[in-house]
Amino acid sequence: MTAQAATVAVDFPVSRVPVVNVATVPQRSPLRYPGGKTWLIPHIREWLRHTGPEILIEPFAGGAIVSLTAVMENLVRSAVMVEIDRDVAAFWRSALESGATLREWIGQFDPTIESLQKITQEPPKSVAEHGFKTLVLNRTHRGGVLARGASFSKSGENGKGLRSRWYPETLAKRLAAIQEHSDRLSFVEGDGMKLLPIVLRGWGRDAAIFLDPPYTAAGGKRAGSRLYEHSSIDHAALFGMLADHDSNFLMTYDAAPKIIELVRRHGFSAAVLSMKNGHHNQLVELVITSEPLFA
Ligand SMILES: C[S@@+](CC[C@H](N)C(=O)[O-])C[C@H]1O[C@@H](n2cnc3c(N)ncnc32)[C@H](O)[C@@H]1O
Repeated sequence: MTAQAATVAVDFPVSRVPVVNVATVPQRSPLRYPGGKTWLIPHIREWLRHTGPEILIEPFAGGAIVSLTAVMENLVRSAVMVEIDRDVAAFWRSALESGATLREWIGQFDPTIESLQKITQEPPKSVAEHGFKTLVLNRTHRGGVLARGASFSKSGENGKGLRSRWYPETLAKRLAAIQEHSDRLSFVEGDGMKLLPIVLRGWGRDAAIFLDPPYTAAGGKRAGSRLYEHSSIDHAALFGMLADHDSNFLMTYDAAPKIIELVRRHGFSAAVLSMKNGHHNQLVELVITSEPLFA
């Protein structure tokens, strides 16, 4: 966040929905996600209760916290998660199709230098193996970063190194909950930018669309190119697609000048949320909707 962005963002109203302590929000995703959206859940609940959509679509799913929460809290009947990254996609496919197998492997796995070297080097022989590999690397890489060149946790993250984020029982419980709801969760491996216009034309306002695109503003909270393998999309085109349709969307972005300009150009509403990240840096996030919901 640059000083300039923080100043410009002040022009938008501060959201009336308070930032919650993330520890009070149930963590439902087995994946750790850089820039995860747990803090946003109170806004999501209010948005979905207010607009009452048939279905939720999440075109940039990542850890898919919003889809999982919406279905498990019965805020929507069903959700569709879309993700382009093949490793993350393999995880979601195996979580939905082979959850029991993943849970069994989680119980048997001990993250050591040797076991992690083995899983890193051996090509997976099935979607389930590929999904398990993604989960293991996500939980043992520093900060959950899966992009090429990411390093393993060493002494950091509470001093337990490789095991510091490997909680077999918790992970198995989260996977069991996903399996229980698998008839209401769908996963599509593909380009959210290509799927979005089809959804907008087909569903109109009956679909709620949650968008948390990869954003790479220099100095932003998510220095995207380091965090995600797929970190570049056409943000202006995304805003244009949403503006061209009568749509019910909620988007989050860093409060960067380029994004603020796009919000204004299309007459969208934005509310500002200010919070501290895990490193005690002050962050300014925008919650962008088609109509004013949080002002
Ligand atoms: C900011 S993250 C989403 C984090 C998610 N909201 C969470 O709480 O875990 C953006 C995700 O979009 C994915 N992505 C990037 N470009 C995409 C595209 N064109 N279509 C679908 N997914 C894409 C990235 O791989 C990444 O997983």
